[in-house]
Amino acid sequence: MCGIVGYIGTKKAVPVLIKGLLSLEYRGYDSSGICVLENNSLEVVKDKGRVKNLEENPILNTLNGNIGIAHTRWATHGIPSKENAHPHLDNSKTFAVVHNGIIENYTDLRNFLENKGYTLISQTDTEVIPNLISYYYSLENDILKAIAKTIKDLKGSYAIEVISPLLKDKIIVARKDSPLVIGIGNGENFIASDIPAVLNYTNKFYFLDDLEISVISKNSIEFYDIDLNKVEKDVKDIEWDCASSEKNGFEDYMLKEIFEQPTSIMETIGSRLKPNEKCYFDDLKIDLKDINRIYIVACGTAMHAGIAAKYAFEHFCKIPVEVDMASEFRYRNPLIDKHTLCIFISQSGETADTIAALKLAKSLGSKTLAVVNVIGSSITRVADYTIYTHAGPEIAVASTKAYTAQVVLLNILAVYFAEILGYSSKELEDFKMEILELPDKVKIILEDTSKIQEFAKEVYSQKDMFFIGRNTDYAVSMEASLKLKEISYIHSEAYAAGELKHGPIALIENGTTVIGIATNPNLVEKTISNLEEVITRGANVMIVTNQELPNINSKLNIEVPKCNPMLSPILSVIPLQLFSYYIAKNKGLDVDKPRNLAKSVTVE
Ligand code: AGP
Ligand code: GLU
Repeated sequence: MCGIVGYIGTKKAVPVLIKGLLSLEYRGYDSSGICVLENNSLEVVKDKGRVKNLEENPILNTLNGNIGIAHTRWATHGIPSKENAHPHLDNSKTFAVVHNGIIENYTDLRNFLENKGYTLISQTDTEVIPNLISYYYSLENDILKAIAKTIKDLKGSYAIEVISPLLKDKIIVARKDSPLVIGIGNGENFIASDIPAVLNYTNKFYFLDDLEISVISKNSIEFYDIDLNKVEKDVKDIEWDCASSEKNGFEDYMLKEIFEQPTSIMETIGSRLKPNEKCYFDDLKIDLKDINRIYIVACGTAMHAGIAAKYAFEHFCKIPVEVDMASEFRYRNPLIDKHTLCIFISQSGETADTIAALKLAKSLGSKTLAVVNVIGSSITRVADYTIYTHAGPEIAVASTKAYTAQVVLLNILAVYFAEILGYSSKELEDFKMEILELPDKVKIILEDTSKIQEFAKEVYSQKDMFFIGRNTDYAVSMEASLKLKEISYIHSEAYAAGELKHGPIALIENGTTVIGIATNPNLVEKTISNLEEVITRGANVMIVTNQELPNINSKLNIEVPKCNPMLSPILSVIPLQLFSYYIAKNKGLDVDKPRNLAKSVTVE
């Protein structure tokens, strides 16, 4: 995920572009860059770090061009560095491109270009785009055709902007599955990843649809489909004010991130999993025959993702899995050796306990694999192998989209291991199809949040709450309970439903809120019996389920789509993320920055 901006008109492009980048920085902030058409040549200025670094570069003051494109990056391929920052140029320095998204087949395209004599200098997936445009331009002698042919070759997601001295007074843009809007000015036009980035200049917008191309000059905007047939579009008037800015109209980052989950899950699946094909991970060459035990080690929500995913490793790969908190693991002299695979999960890649646990596992000779969201972060530099969740930047302290991306990725990893170990089966194939259906199922859950909002309003003033479930539903209970504590400051506990009668049920009294999660067809009746036990003792019960429930006197049942129980945490957690969110809002709390907490815990 990243932010892109473009300007064409009569003003100096640089200040407009910088202002747009600053507003888009929430989308990525590991490096940034600008390219301006200056006296008919491409001038590129880029640097590692935040947009402020770029803004302070004195060369920018010398650029007077009126056409430019700019990018603030959230690396997906290639560490954050000056070389990997956008814009990227083709070998002949004729085409400059900024890109938001992931080119899944970039390795094939890179090989293709290298065979044609092109040299790619960065580690990014993006650099294939300007070079492909250049390649097709050498065949077609027509830039629009060259861009159309290029995007036909791209698999994955992209919003791109292209400028070139050959285009003189035009910017060409295209998109698929990454956002891009065109703001209409008077004798000038604007391009951006989102509306607020250019809302200071206009409230009239065109929205580019998937697989559409637009040719933009200062006085005209034309649209084409991928076969270069002209397309007509309506102008939309936007009535937002600049204040809702980077949150894209959402009140808080947390809510925005909850609603981004269909996309973050889709990006995380990417090209790793396809129907009727073996799973694929670049550069992951672990000799699994040698592994007799897996440890999953992490903190907080990331550890809960490990607990949710351990079932798939045990079920499909027949390898015992233990999940541990990094802060405990590092001080318990774990019995691990070269036959142990240790998987470390972290959104930030900077959590001190997780780094220490990783270093310990390495020193004891275990194989180490990191599952991380932030490219190039500390953990990725220590682990033997890293695979990335492509959740995009997560700003809210309470983790939501990183959690679901972690659970998805770990389940895909379990499938990958099972296939390597020769455990292919019809069940495994069906499981793969179910993973591919997850983004649409998440969308369904997010379509109507009204019941959750109402229930949150009823119970927000309570002091204690309980979450119960069995198997993966218990894993979700732990995550839901942590979410509630973190942002609403309500004391809550998660229990395995069967454990309740061994003590905690003593805490239940008239009016206590208990949330039951019941998505496993083999266990639903057992969990329902446990919920009956608390209802009998006066509890108010809400149930998250995808099963036909027996008659039960619950206050509210929230239905989520059916899915394999090993994947149900990805769906059943979503109403519970919203539940915590709305409770905290009812209490008037700052959901994005809860008291006493930090986004990344870099101290012990
Ligand atoms: C999640 O909502 C919490 N803020 C916290 O538990 C977090 O998951 C934990 O600190 C681990 O962080 P990491 O994923 O960046 O390593
Ligand atoms: N995949 C591109 C890169 O890593 C673009 C990433 C983005 O959208 O931020 O450079």
